[in-house]
Amino acid sequence: MSSLQNRRAIVTGASSGIGAATARALAARGAEVVLVGRDRARLAAVQAQCPGSRIVELDVRDAAAVQHALGGLGADLVVNNAGLALGAEKLPDGDPSEWAVVIDTNLKGVLHVLHATLPAMRAAGRGDHVLLGSVAGRQVYPGGNVYCATKHAVRALYEAQRLDLAGSGVRVSTVDPGMVETGFSGVRFRGDQARAKAVYQGMTPLAPEDVADAIVWVVTRPAHVNVGEVVLWPTDQASTTTVQRR
Ligand SMILES: NC(=O)c1ccc[n+]([C@@H]2O[C@H](COP(=O)([O-])OP(=O)(O)OC[C@H]3O[C@@H](n4cnc5c(N)ncnc54)[C@H](OP(=O)(O)O)[C@@H]3O)[C@@H](O)[C@H]2O)c1
Repeated sequence: MSSLQNRRAIVTGASSGIGAATARALAARGAEVVLVGRDRARLAAVQAQCPGSRIVELDVRDAAAVQHALGGLGADLVVNNAGLALGAEKLPDGDPSEWAVVIDTNLKGVLHVLHATLPAMRAAGRGDHVLLGSVAGRQVYPGGNVYCATKHAVRALYEAQRLDLAGSGVRVSTVDPGMVETGFSGVRFRGDQARAKAVYQGMTPLAPEDVADAIVWVVTRPAHVNVGEVVLWPTDQASTTTVQRR
């Protein structure tokens, strides 16, 4: 097992799904993990599975809070993961107040975390910043409008950071999964668990641990290797609109 001893890792959205699995995987390899999310009780449950970890309770939409809590940590590994979708309506039927939550979290929240954590890595001349993109940042699908737009924006930020940080020694990566069974669909369908479960009916989605495995692989390559983009599909999913169900 590759060691992450002496690495300090920030994982946003660590209370659930991909973030929680990634926090566990990083802690199991010896990283000191900072678990970031809005709900202390959910974070505490993950902390119990991550030896040596600590909790930072904040909302990534709050730029000042992100800077204050994460800016001085000197983390050399960041998994910029917190994100969500709300609804799957066609655009004219959508709710602009929900669009604001999705844009403020998936785009501005990601920017706040980049802005707070990159200076220390740049000063140190090393570090890993992993963005959680999505196949929704590469293809769109009916009803995906605002969510897909934010993930396309994350992909643009990934490309932009590779240019902005060229020569700094800092590695930027994007890990872009297809369907992963997490709390994501429950949040998207506003707590309708039957509808969320139906998303994965008759097919085998990725598990959050599959994505965590990829992230661990990305950040444990030798210093001269920057894995730029990882796209992970369930074998049963060929595109955002083509899913094999039995
Ligand atoms: N599941 C999929 O099929 C899939 C596919 C591709 C990409 N992704 C991406 O993977 C990432 C993780 O999603 P997931 O599938 O693991 O969903 P999840 O189980 O719902 O986890 C989302 C995490 O984000 C946190 N979060 C949401 N809003 C936040 C905010 N404003 N401030 C701080 N934390 C916030 C949540 O914590 P609290 O609510 O407790 O604060 C939770 O820990 C997202 O960026 C998502 O877009 C998911």
